[in-house]
Amino acid sequence: MNETTVPGIISAKHIRKLVMVTAYDYSMARLVDQCDIDMVLVGDSLAMVSLGHEDTLSVGMKEMLHHTGAVSRGVQKALVVADMPFMSYQTGVSRAVFNAGRFLKEARAGAVKVEGAAGVTPQIKAMVEAGIPVMGHLGLTPQSIAVFGGFKVQGRGKSGPLILSQARQLEQAGCFSLVLEAVPVELARQITESVSIPTIGIGAGPHCDGQVLVVNDLLGINEQFAPRFVKRYADLSATVRNAVSDYSREVRSGQFPGPEHCYKD
Ligand code: KIV
Repeated sequence: MNETTVPGIISAKHIRKLVMVTAYDYSMARLVDQCDIDMVLVGDSLAMVSLGHEDTLSVGMKEMLHHTGAVSRGVQKALVVADMPFMSYQTGVSRAVFNAGRFLKEARAGAVKVEGAAGVTPQIKAMVEAGIPVMGHLGLTPQSIAVFGGFKVQGRGKSGPLILSQARQLEQAGCFSLVLEAVPVELARQITESVSIPTIGIGAGPHCDGQVLVVNDLLGINEQFAPRFVKRYADLSATVRNAVSDYSREVRSGQFPGPEHCYKD
């Protein structure tokens, strides 16, 4: 078991801010696990970030298990949370529990994450009863973009109280924490103060109990995607382009490989 546990995450509320970041492969997982973070999320953003799909709907159990296994092998300290992909939990309780169990049993995740509230509350209760820790996700839930009509801020005006009551439902169902994505700052504050489980914000302002960012966004690898809530802490696109261009130039000029890169007879 990794050093960070689900009870440890719950007890951090009101004591310290929680930090979560996504990772999709072993090398990145190893790196981020050395950076004082609490949770590594194998997000279904994998579909867009690593696999080039236009949304998260196309990714399935096979890909999510494959990448979660790779991340789990790289992480020793943080809690690994695996996103359950679209249609792996929405269609029934026993299917949801079976699929969630595969993330712990086969991919060695420490918890799963599901999107939504009313339609998935029975599944969440059954997963928790089966011994599977569940993180909820409300607000802009990308698996529902067909209903939302795109990636849009949620919870403005009359829909705010609905999201607040959904948060309470998820807490009652047994979720150990809750992602709030793209909701107004005040609503996120109200939810954070109303539930006993930690809220983890992305585009939800500073009052959440923690924050999550997609690792490619914070490292500046993904140049096409620049929503307001992303802060770039590095410009790895430029670093990668410069390094690979230098390599290309040195190969073409005969500068690489040099004597120090060669085996002697
Ligand atoms: O898939 C993902 O990366 C996520 C985070 C944005 C919370 O769900």
